Amino acid sequence: MLRFLFLALLLCCMVAQPAVSSTVEGKPAAKKDPASFSADIKSAIPDNYNCIICHTDLEDEVLTPPVKDWMQSVHREVGVRCADCHGGAPFDEELAMEPEAGFIGKPKPMDIPKLCSKCHSDAKLMRAYNQRADQHQLYSGSVHGRKLSSGDEQAPSCVSCHGKHKILKVKDPKSTVHRSNIPQMCGGCHAKKEIFKKRRKPFNQLELYKKSRHYELFSKGDLLVPTCVNCHSNHGVISSKSARVRTVCFNCHASQAEYFKSSPHWKVYEKEGEPICLSCHNNHDVLRPTVKKFTGDEDIDCIGCHDKTDKAYKVGEEIQAVMISTTSAVAKAREGLDDFINNAHGGFEVSGLVENMDKTADNLKELNALTHKLDVETLKKRSGKIINVSRNVQETVDQMWAEIHTRKIGLAVSWVVFLGFCGALWLKSKSLEQDRLE
Ligand code: HEC
Ligand code: HEC
Ligand code: HEC
Ligand code: HEC
Ligand code: HEC
Ligand code: HEC
Ligand code: HEC
Ligand code: HEC
Ligand code: HEC
Repeated sequence: MLRFLFLALLLCCMVAQPAVSSTVEGKPAAKKDPASFSADIKSAIPDNYNCIICHTDLEDEVLTPPVKDWMQSVHREVGVRCADCHGGAPFDEELAMEPEAGFIGKPKPMDIPKLCSKCHSDAKLMRAYNQRADQHQLYSGSVHGRKLSSGDEQAPSCVSCHGKHKILKVKDPKSTVHRSNIPQMCGGCHAKKEIFKKRRKPFNQLELYKKSRHYELFSKGDLLVPTCVNCHSNHGVISSKSARVRTVCFNCHASQAEYFKSSPHWKVYEKEGEPICLSCHNNHDVLRPTVKKFTGDEDIDCIGCHDKTDKAYKVGEEIQAVMISTTSAVAKAREGLDDFINNAHGGFEVSGLVENMDKTADNLKELNALTHKLDVETLKKRSGKIINVSRNVQETVDQMWAEIHTRKIGLAVSWVVFLGFCGALWLKSKSLEQDRLE
């Protein structure tokens, strides 16, 4: 058996060479028009590779598509061919699909991870392609891997996520596992009622995720927001109830996490497993929160766990009041400054004020995160500073307007005086002229 695997690998490596060099010559198969694939067979694959010849000739709706699909795959590019996965004798038509030539036919779902990993777990082989070799190891320990190996054929094997024959490089936007396709790939299966209903598991993750702020930014091409795999991982999907998944938000929202960890909620979480970020924000349909959350009437608002008469609820109301007054002071100052810049037409140095307001915007963001500490005193202190800076800016802007006003009055007075003077001069010259004529 081992010897066979070794031979298969050796064959794979050997056949990989010419295919790679034909790619170098400028014939990347993946980009070829599917109509020209029979020409490709002749150029890159040995003429007498019988699996491809016969399966193409069969023109069967099940037996022929694997050839077309494989033609476009990364495996074809690197020379991984039919017999490298299915076994058999590609150069001996008599023995082509005989078990004695190692032919395994169509592998059962349960056998697929082993089949793929005979190459993908070979660290030495994968190093040659600058590729990691831990997919099978991670997968075996995952919920998916364990379910499948226990006989649950609805759990995904490698090909459920990667496709059977048209396996592309992850970087290829057409790959089933390209970042842009991940919500649909994972979420599509998880939306199948026929799989999840009888297990009494929810099947609405994709629907919920599509409502989230994360998805909104994801669909605009933001690379920093999470898709399914950033929160659940790709090969090593573990139980969603594990602490690692439930605290996954910490990985990216460091400020909120830090303040949360110094709040009374953290101690409760450590004992009881709640509340945590998703208790107030949800996990899939994470929306943009507003200050309304403190007094809102949804389960994920404070009222979900605290009565209106609780001390905790009152703390929330106080935080809300601080946030409202701070936000409005900042907004007012910013508005005033923008109005001045747009309408005062120069003559004043405002770059210092702009810088102050930009810093204040950052501080307000930080203050937003600080709400998670539930510490009203600290919040008030920081809010006080922000309000002071905003008021100072506002006062400076008011003073500048006043100065403009004074300058305008001064200017008007100067004009009056000047015009008066001119008028007097004119009268004087008129009367002189009159005198001369008389
Ligand atoms: C002379 C024609 C011919 C050649 C050569 C040939 N096949 Fe087939 N293959 C068929 C036909 C016909 C079937 C469907 C009937 C059957 O299963 O025997 C089939 C079925 C299969 C199946 C599906 C089996 C299943 O269990 O559903 C696989 C996989 C397969 N071939 C792979 C290969 C590979 C790999 C090679 C080369 C080593 C190869 N074939 C060579 C004609 C061929
Ligand atoms: C990277 C490994 C790999 C390569 C290369 C590969 N196959 Fe397959 N093939 C599979 C797997 C895995 C399945 C079973 C998929 C499933 O469970 O649905 C399969 C299924 C099939 C089937 C059964 C019909 C079907 O679609 O399920 C046929 C026929 C087949 N392959 C033929 C071929 C031929 C012909 C080639 C070469 C052109 C080829 N395969 C190359 C892995 C491979
Ligand atoms: C539940 C879906 C899923 C299953 C099952 C799965 N993969 Fe993947 N795989 C992915 C995703 C998604 C990526 C893309 C990486 C990313 O963006 O997270 C990936 C990437 C890869 C890569 C590229 C290198 C890397 O690790 O990023 C290889 C190779 C690979 N998978 C092989 C396998 C093999 C072999 C198996 C079976 C043992 C398997 N995969 C099972 C989803 C899956
Ligand atoms: C005979 C060896 C072999 C077998 C068997 C094999 N692969 Fe591969 N696979 C390779 C090689 C070599 C590459 C090219 C590595 C590279 O360039 O990234 C590759 C590439 C890939 C990639 C693209 C990785 C990337 O670069 O983004 C994926 C995904 C993948 N294989 C999945 C599978 C799956 C799923 C199976 C089982 C159905 C499988 N492979 C079976 C050898 C194999
Ligand atoms: C082909 C269908 C299929 C695909 C594709 C798939 N899954 Fe699953 N997944 C399942 C099944 C079936 C289970 C097991 C459900 C059970 O019975 O507990 C499962 C379990 C899970 C669990 C554990 C649920 C729990 O209750 O803790 C998570 C998390 C998960 N999948 C996430 C993902 C992610 C992320 C992806 C994409 C990388 C993905 N799945 C792709 C079918 C799929
Ligand atoms: C922002 C992180 C995040 C993203 C993105 C995410 N999940 Fe989850 N998911 C979680 C957390 C956290 C839980 C655990 C919830 C709990 O403990 O109540 C979970 C639970 C699950 C479960 C268990 C059943 C359930 O609904 O509670 C499945 C299945 C699942 N997610 C699949 C997916 C799929 C599929 C996607 C992509 C469409 C996805 N998740 C996107 C964080 C995320
Ligand atoms: C992979 C990193 C990552 C993970 C994991 C993650 N997020 Fe996010 N999240 C982001 C990014 C990036 C944004 C958009 C930038 C921003 O507004 O902070 C965002 C936005 C948000 C927003 C909207 C903020 C706003 O001002 O509009 C909330 C709320 C949020 N995430 C909560 C969560 C929760 C709860 C979790 C865990 C269930 C989580 N995030 C997991 C990266 C992540
Ligand atoms: C007890 C409920 C609660 C918990 C627990 C909670 N949050 Fe919040 N979160 C809020 C409220 C309320 C706001 C709105 C604050 C505001 O607008 O003044 C908010 C706002 C946010 C924002 C937007 C902040 C901004 O800058 O606009 C993000 C991001 C966020 N939370 C992430 C998290 C993360 C990550 C965790 C876990 C470490 C978490 N939250 C835990 C209630 C909570
Ligand atoms: C998922 C449930 C849950 C949610 C939602 C929640 N809390 Fe709590 N909170 C608790 C629990 C449990 C405790 C500890 C027991 C107690 O004091 O009621 C606690 C304690 C507190 C405390 C400490 C009380 C004390 O006496 O020391 C404050 C303050 C607090 N919460 C404020 C809030 C605010 C503000 C919100 C909304 C932004 C909120 N909580 C949302 C569950 C929650």
